[in-house]
Amino acid sequence: MSDTPRLVDPAPQTTDRSEPALRPRKLDELIGQKNVKENLAILLDAARQRGEALDHVLFYGPPGLGKTTLAHILANEMGVNIKVTAGPAIERQGDLAAILSNLNEGDVLFVDEIHRLGKAVEEVLYPAMEDYALDIVIGKGPSARAIRLKLPRFTVIGATTRLALLTAPLRARFGATFRLDYYEPEAIRAILARAAGELGLQPDAEGMQEIATRSRGTPRVALRLLRRVRDYAEVRANGQLNRAVAQQALQLLEVDELGLDELDRRVLRVIIEKFSGGPVGLNTISAAVSEEPDTIMDVVEPYLMQLGFLERRAQGRHATLAACNHLGLPVPAQLNTPTLF
Ligand SMILES: Nc1ncnc2c1ncn2[C@@H]1O[C@H](COP(=O)(O)OP(=O)(O)OP(=O)(O)O)[C@@H](O)[C@H]1O
Ligand SMILES: [Mg+2]
Repeated sequence: MSDTPRLVDPAPQTTDRSEPALRPRKLDELIGQKNVKENLAILLDAARQRGEALDHVLFYGPPGLGKTTLAHILANEMGVNIKVTAGPAIERQGDLAAILSNLNEGDVLFVDEIHRLGKAVEEVLYPAMEDYALDIVIGKGPSARAIRLKLPRFTVIGATTRLALLTAPLRARFGATFRLDYYEPEAIRAILARAAGELGLQPDAEGMQEIATRSRGTPRVALRLLRRVRDYAEVRANGQLNRAVAQQALQLLEVDELGLDELDRRVLRVIIEKFSGGPVGLNTISAAVSEEPDTIMDVVEPYLMQLGFLERRAQGRHATLAACNHLGLPVPAQLNTPTLF
């Protein structure tokens, strides 16, 4: 399995460390996600007008679209502190109790990967979210007794890439739930132009366009590609970041004009050339390209499906005509015959 991080992986990587600098801090500064923004603006205004803590908010959607960024923006807009944690980091009930009892009135508790909270921990969270109360048991055996501690009114902001894994009672405790979707190319272009300015580059519209179309609708991917293209521009092109320079840099990085990288292409090629377009099982593909099945399922396939290059059917994976055309490969005979499924 390959150890090299993929340039187009939407998940965070250690090389993304300059991210916080490029993070928008105000709701107004956030580009795209118009509908989510408008709803959040109302939520914020209402809470501020009433002088109350913000209602609990849940964000879900694919990685790299701004869930963490939005959590920080909400805390910042409310003028409160944010305590950041993640589902797997809270192992025992006592860990959560300690976090909760340290919160101040109005504070935000951001729980990333909230679908990974343990069951016992969740049970402490329920009354905390609903009644701002912490139920703790003192003592052991017959003399044990439960006492209820009051908590300040605080806000839980949850983030998850897998809404389906969240238990129903937990979901029900959020006053507002928002789905983040892939960004329109125009929004990605605007995000890039802003970031280029902050990196001290002259944002050239055509250069940004080249990067935007390869960013898979994901700000994190866009910003990462921008940094690599900037390196290339500085080393090879006197810092000029125009269309030709962006194209050369991205070609050298082997990211094609739709944002497919070498692994995406290898997966498609295996299905088309070795298995006549499909059907073929995930494990077979995984063995053929020497990559973990989870990686293929979670990070390769969703984007290929979104482009209409891959279909998951009952019998297995199929490549499409569009995929053959994009890769310039001959179309396998069975792809041209309609199948019943
Ligand atoms: N609308 C936006 N405008 C500008 N930059 C953005 C926007 N959304 C996200 N970004 C940037 O993209 C990067 C990834 O965003 P963020 O970390 O918030 O994503 P995430 O949804 O929390 O991802 P993950 O699921 O991996 O935790 C950050 O550098 C952030 O600043
Ligand atoms: Mg995040």
